[in-house]
Amino acid sequence: MLDIYTLGEEVLTEKCQPITKFDSGLRVLVDAMFETMAEADGVGLAAPQVGVPNRLFVINIKGVERRAYVNPQILETSIETDTAEEGCLSVPGVWHDVERPARVTVQAQDLEGKVFTVQGEGLLARALQHEYDHLNGTLFIDRLNDEEKEKVVKAYEKKNKARRRSKP
Ligand code: NI
Repeated sequence: MLDIYTLGEEVLTEKCQPITKFDSGLRVLVDAMFETMAEADGVGLAAPQVGVPNRLFVINIKGVERRAYVNPQILETSIETDTAEEGCLSVPGVWHDVERPARVTVQAQDLEGKVFTVQGEGLLARALQHEYDHLNGTLFIDRLNDEEKEKVVKAYEKKNKARRRSKP
């Protein structure tokens, strides 16, 4: 299990660096990320969320997609957009509607360095864009207008103060 970094940690605001070594270290990291994501009940987790500033994320949407994306690039997004509630393991306990392109085409490398392309819609399109944003230091709350963002951050801070207080 890896620690999940939360709002305020600098690594979450950085532009991440490409992965250059497709070695056993990468496989160990990816396995640990899948475990950590499952434990936290998430559908996606990006490397900077576990303190690793590299261009890598994992996705696990039951029956749809379970894969590691190394050095991903967004090739195409639809003009049509979709608005749905979004949350993030790095901003736990709060959710907000986010508008994003409804469909997306992503190209990435697998753990051997082989290139693959995925076209996503629905939750997969949303997860791919959300995780890709993490690699450029962008959180879903950064996609909101100032007023919405302030409201969500306030709710987050209130919730986490309450959580800390409730600990013995
Ligand atoms: Ni996230």
